[in-house]
Amino acid sequence: MNYLKKILITGGAGFIGSHVVRKMVSDYPSYLIVNLDKLTYAGNLNNLKDVENKENYIFSHLDINNDEGLNQLFNHYQFDGVIHLAAESHVDRSISNPSEFVKTNIVGTLNLLNNCRNHWKNLKGKCFYHISTDEVYGSLGDKGFFTESTAYDPRSPYSASKAGSDHLVRAYGHTYKLPIKISNCSNNYGSYQFPEKLIPLMINNIKNRNPLPVYGKGENIRDWLWVVDHALAIDLVFHHGEFGETYNIGGHNEWKNIDLVNFLCDLMDKKLHRKIGESRSLINYVKDRAGHDLRYAIDASKIQRELGWTPSVSFEKGLESTVDWYLNNENWLNNVTSGSYQRYYSEHYD
Ligand code: NAD
Ligand code: TYD
Repeated sequence: MNYLKKILITGGAGFIGSHVVRKMVSDYPSYLIVNLDKLTYAGNLNNLKDVENKENYIFSHLDINNDEGLNQLFNHYQFDGVIHLAAESHVDRSISNPSEFVKTNIVGTLNLLNNCRNHWKNLKGKCFYHISTDEVYGSLGDKGFFTESTAYDPRSPYSASKAGSDHLVRAYGHTYKLPIKISNCSNNYGSYQFPEKLIPLMINNIKNRNPLPVYGKGENIRDWLWVVDHALAIDLVFHHGEFGETYNIGGHNEWKNIDLVNFLCDLMDKKLHRKIGESRSLINYVKDRAGHDLRYAIDASKIQRELGWTPSVSFEKGLESTVDWYLNNENWLNNVTSGSYQRYYSEHYD
């Protein structure tokens, strides 16, 4: 088959990546979508059951640190575009094992950039799109928002490694004229998120009547965005964003952690026909995260103005559909919380 474009998506078996792969495979049947993933603890091919048999989809089990493997893949497919999501993504794990974050997030991104440089002799129609986080901007006080011109101030090994990769991507755009784009997004939630991140971890613990570990006083603030809306923004930036530009993506949806956990408890009490207040009694304030950033909040006016993107659902609706998804997908949840998850959980929380 002669495809209009051949797109490499890295990290497509992860949380956000699986939503991006699903969208691109379904919405663009004239594109060949190659999903490259190492399948770490966070990558799971069960996230893509509904697309695995589509004609325009291929999975490649590869580490972005396998430079020769990347070279062969680029040789074979002659990609027109790369949407790069593969990363180590959890702040707590970056605090206990920073090296893995430097290897994958910085060196792995460098390998991909070098392969694009080596294989893209003609840059017309090419695009390297790097998916990043708002955490590169550091931490806000009570007021203000991160804009695209906010100075970088990463404060965790995770955000430092993402900042390093952002800088490399911009440097390759500047120095070698590689056609690059970057977006920096706030906290995502939704189906297929590994239950180490706040929302799915709390859903799983509420469901099982386990303690709900809230770090510090629960006063840290995050700006939550439904993952499907992030995937929509990624599609827009990939197709219509300007080369060399950065787009901030956020939910206009700030929640204090403790308010969010209380809200989830009450929502799940209703869903599970429990007495209202029962799940709140599981809340357990635990030792704070080292270097815990106080507040993230995105000014997403540029992507709204230039590409017409805004979040499509309210947080209440998105969260309810997320809770329903986890309650209806018990097998998925049991599968990802068996084995090494139990070890991680007991080492991290006990
Ligand atoms: P995730 O941890 O759920 O998925 C990461 C995927 O990358 C997994 O499938 C994993 O197997 C794969 N991977 C890891 N190391 C690899 C390697 N060396 N080679 C190939 N594949 C590898 O992460 P996510 O939450 O879906 O985040 C995806 C991207 O979006 C990341 O770059 C992250 O920094 C960024 N991001 C995430 C959020 C969020 O709230 N989750 C917000 C903004 C930006
Ligand atoms: P997380 O989902 O890990 O995302 P990030 O640290 O990248 O923002 O955490 C979201 C917020 O929830 C953050 O302020 C830390 C807090 N948190 C808890 O209070 N308890 C937990 O068990 C986890 C995982 C996070």
